[in-house]
Amino acid sequence: MPIVNRIAEFQPDIMAWRRDLHAHPELLYDVHRTAGFVADRLREFGCDEVVTGLGQTGVVGVIKGRKPADGRNVKAIGLRADMDALPIHEETNLPYQSKTPGKMHACGHDGHTAMLLGAARYLSETRNFAGDAVMIFQPAEEGGAGAAAMIKDGLMDRFAIDQVYGMHNIPGIPLGSFAIRPGPLMASMDKLVIKVEGKGAHAAMPHKGVDPVLAGAQLVVALQSIVSRSIDPLESAVLSICSFHAGHTSNVIPQTADMLGTVRTLKPKVRDLVEQRMKDVAAGVAQATGTRIELNYNRGYPVVVNHPDQTDFALKIATDIVGAANVDANTTPIMGAEDFAYMLEARPGAFIFMGNGDSAGLHHPAYNFNDDAIVHGSSYWVKLVEGTLAA
Ligand code: NI
Repeated sequence: MPIVNRIAEFQPDIMAWRRDLHAHPELLYDVHRTAGFVADRLREFGCDEVVTGLGQTGVVGVIKGRKPADGRNVKAIGLRADMDALPIHEETNLPYQSKTPGKMHACGHDGHTAMLLGAARYLSETRNFAGDAVMIFQPAEEGGAGAAAMIKDGLMDRFAIDQVYGMHNIPGIPLGSFAIRPGPLMASMDKLVIKVEGKGAHAAMPHKGVDPVLAGAQLVVALQSIVSRSIDPLESAVLSICSFHAGHTSNVIPQTADMLGTVRTLKPKVRDLVEQRMKDVAAGVAQATGTRIELNYNRGYPVVVNHPDQTDFALKIATDIVGAANVDANTTPIMGAEDFAYMLEARPGAFIFMGNGDSAGLHHPAYNFNDDAIVHGSSYWVKLVEGTLAA
C-alpha cells in the first residue's frame, strides 16, 4: 500500500495552505491567525465538531466514522500537530517567506499543521472508520508547553481519546522515510538559572573581595564532571551552560555572576541524579570559593516515551506507506525535546520522525519544510486512523 491517491490529489491544496501558514508565522500561544485558519478549514471539510480556545489557542476537530465504535477497545484516536513558529529572522528568500521580520516557521510546524489538515479533509470525505478521529492543533510547542495546557483544559477526557499520535519532520532523514523506536525517543528539557554572589572589589585588590567570576568559571568546569564521572557511560545526559554574564569593565571585580543552561536526559533516574549532583557540586564550589551560589533547577518537558504496542502499530502503518527499506524501526534517540511527551504521559501512543531530506537543520534561518513530504505525512495520518479504527 503506497501513499493514498486521494491525498496525492489534495497535495497542491495542502502545499498552498502550508505556504500561507509559512508566510504568516506566529509565536507560542499567540497563534490567532493560524488557529482561525485551521478552524475555518475544519468547518469547510464538514468536521462534526470544531472546538477552539482549548489551551488558550488550541483547536480540535472531531470527525466521526461511518460506524460507531460500540464495544471496541479503542473508540477515539488523537492525531496532533503543532502550530507555532520561532523568533528567528528568515533567510530563505522564498517567494512565500515570512512576512513578519524576526518570526519564522523554522521547525516545520507549518508543514505539520497543513498535513494534518489534509488528513482531516480526507477523513471528513471518506469516513471509512468506526469511532472518532480527533484532530489536535496545539499552540506553544516551542517552550510554552501548549500540549500540557490543552490537556489541562480537558483535551483527553472531553474527546474521550484512547490513543494519541504525533509526528515531526527531521532534516537529514531521507525524504519518503520514517524513523521511530519504542521507549525514550526525545529527551527531557530542564532549565538552569544560576546566580553566583561574591563581593565586589577593586580589581587590583582581589583579597578585599570575593570573586564571583573565578567561582563561576570553576563551577562551569566542575559541572562538566557530572556527565563524564557521575553518569553511567551507557546512559545519556547533556549539561550545557549557555550563558555567563558578569561585570562590565576591566578594573572592577563584580558582585555577581549569572548563568543559564539546560539539562537533557532520557530517563527519570538519570534526570534525578544530574539534579542532585548539580546541587552537591554547586554547594562544594560555593564553600571552596566563599561565594553564595543559588541554583534553580527548573524541570520542563518530560522525556518523550513511545509506548511499545502503539509504536509497533505506527511502524506497520509507516512500512505500508513507504516500504520496510524506508523505515528505521530502531532510530537513535535525540536529545532535543518535545512537549508531545505530556500527551504520551496522558495516553498510550507514539511519536514518529518523518524525513525532510537534505534541508537546513531545524531552527536554522535557511530551513524550509519539504512540500514533497506532504503525501507521506498525510497518508500516514489517514492510514493510522483507518487501521486503528477499522470499519
Ligand atoms: Ni518542532
